[in-house]
Amino acid sequence: MTNTFSFASFAVSVCLALAGCSNSKKAISSSEIPSLKETFQKDFIIGTALNGQQIEEKEPNAAVLVPQQFNAITPENIMKAEIIHPEWGKYNFDLADKIVAYGQKHKMEINGHTLIWHSQLPAFVRRMKDADSVRQFFTDHITTIASRYDGKITTWDVVNEALEEDGSLRKSIFLEKLGEDYIVDAFRLAQKAAPNSKLYYNDYNIEQPKKRAGTIAIIKKLKAAGVRIDGVGIQGHWKAYNVPLKDIEESILEYSALGIEVMFTELDLGVLPNPWDSDAADVNMKAEYSAKMNPYPNGLPDSMQVKLTKGYEDLFNLFLKYKKEISRITFWGVNDGQSWLNGWPIRGRTNYPLLFDREFKPKPAFYRVIETKTKGSAKKAF
Ligand code: XIL
Repeated sequence: MTNTFSFASFAVSVCLALAGCSNSKKAISSSEIPSLKETFQKDFIIGTALNGQQIEEKEPNAAVLVPQQFNAITPENIMKAEIIHPEWGKYNFDLADKIVAYGQKHKMEINGHTLIWHSQLPAFVRRMKDADSVRQFFTDHITTIASRYDGKITTWDVVNEALEEDGSLRKSIFLEKLGEDYIVDAFRLAQKAAPNSKLYYNDYNIEQPKKRAGTIAIIKKLKAAGVRIDGVGIQGHWKAYNVPLKDIEESILEYSALGIEVMFTELDLGVLPNPWDSDAADVNMKAEYSAKMNPYPNGLPDSMQVKLTKGYEDLFNLFLKYKKEISRITFWGVNDGQSWLNGWPIRGRTNYPLLFDREFKPKPAFYRVIETKTKGSAKKAF
């Protein structure tokens, strides 16, 4: 019941924001749906990834919902090298400047995503054969972008996804051409260019023991070299029916024992079957569409809605238990319709991984997440 009433309030407030809605006399403030950022304001920052349309505030529903619910934003794509640095010596700062302005306007933390990543590289880098060219790109890219936004970007994902599943360094163009010290070099350059932004290492599955050991090795290597690392970002692309709570808990403890911040940077809980055994979130992986792989095209059945809600409840109970160690929790997208999980690793599926549905309506999982705080179930669960 509460859910229905609250959504009605939200719908009216969106209607108001759009201006000219016929029932605006029944206006109810959007504050009548609970706010994630307010509910958890003493615990952690709550963020979302924004796509280009949302950064430009061209999507009216998101323009209302995002400032109400979130106090941190990450650009989903527009700071990736292929967009911000499409050609040698040519930078395209248009949308990056806009997300910084958006964040400043709404007093949000801004996470820069990402400086060094093997995926979504521009063609001119993918074609590079000699190490000197890669080194020149690497140095110029980090220095130019990080210095432009020094202090305006709160936190940088300096290096993204540098590890294989076994914890060894990923065989990327950067490892191949620059050698295994490239991560230290990247952080050193970022530290010089952005002394007022926090610097993070970000990756998926680094709650898993082998990849966690690889991440700890990176952190220790940076510290031994006297280079600053402020935190680690665990992406959090998990399955609603299989959230690795024990691994997550151990990771929070082990990472924070190194004296750095822990964040969950790309949270979404997919509900669809996996086409393979791997839990990797490598954007380059692809599988064929089949109806079997897309079981809920017309809506999520109650049985799976319950699993999704429970997955989020368990996670937030864990997050609250470790609120001192966790600085931020960012969802990878605003609503289900925009989630990358509709297109990856199989195109054309219908997934339901976030807290807001395709109409921006809060889902049962949203209310359960709020309740982990307001009803104090965290204390009971652990
Ligand atoms: C994804 C975006 O959400 C998609 O729009 C894009 O097509 C591919 O990249 N790990 C990351 C993110 O660090 O940058 C990825 O984002 C998801 C996995």
